[in-house]
Amino acid sequence: MKKQVIAIYPGSFDPPTNGHLDLIERGAKIFDVLIVALLRNSEKQPLFSIKERLSMLRDTTKKWSNVRVDSFEGLLVDYAIRSGAKVVLRGIRAISDYEYELQMALMNRKLDARLETIFMMPAETYSYLSSRLVREISSLGGSIGALVPEVVERELMNKLRASSPKARTRQK
Ligand code: PNS
Repeated sequence: MKKQVIAIYPGSFDPPTNGHLDLIERGAKIFDVLIVALLRNSEKQPLFSIKERLSMLRDTTKKWSNVRVDSFEGLLVDYAIRSGAKVVLRGIRAISDYEYELQMALMNRKLDARLETIFMMPAETYSYLSSRLVREISSLGGSIGALVPEVVERELMNKLRASSPKARTRQK
């Protein structure tokens, strides 16, 4: 029987963007199972809670039957091996991503040589897109409709309304 190739697509997804979804769709086409894995123990102070991000990821990936959404703590390599994955999938948008990604891929290889990192490029329309910019634009009242799925846009608006009544007026 042919062995399934399981890949992990790890990240912070704060929030998930159209660029993430583009990569998930590409990954789902070439791997038997793709696990979208949300890091739990980030040092950063996230905008969205783990529960909120898991919910947005589940909602936006339910159309792909071989995509699973999960969260993990600790080392990515340990989680990947525990999940039966052989591949870590990462996106490279521009050459500026490469240095950080190369360092991480080589360190993960040092930690566990059974894992391979595979890089894919999202559509070029998303090459400038990042969760950080989405958070910033949204917090300043800019339009993010083309950058994130509808559910994420809604959640961002809710956050904005909750945090600043002034911003609520601007968004109207
Ligand atoms: O979307 P991000 O924030 O760039 O994702 C970074 C992530 C989650 C892939 C990375 O921080 C990670 O794998 N963290 C888990 C801890 C770990 O394994 N650190 C060593 C990496 S070489």
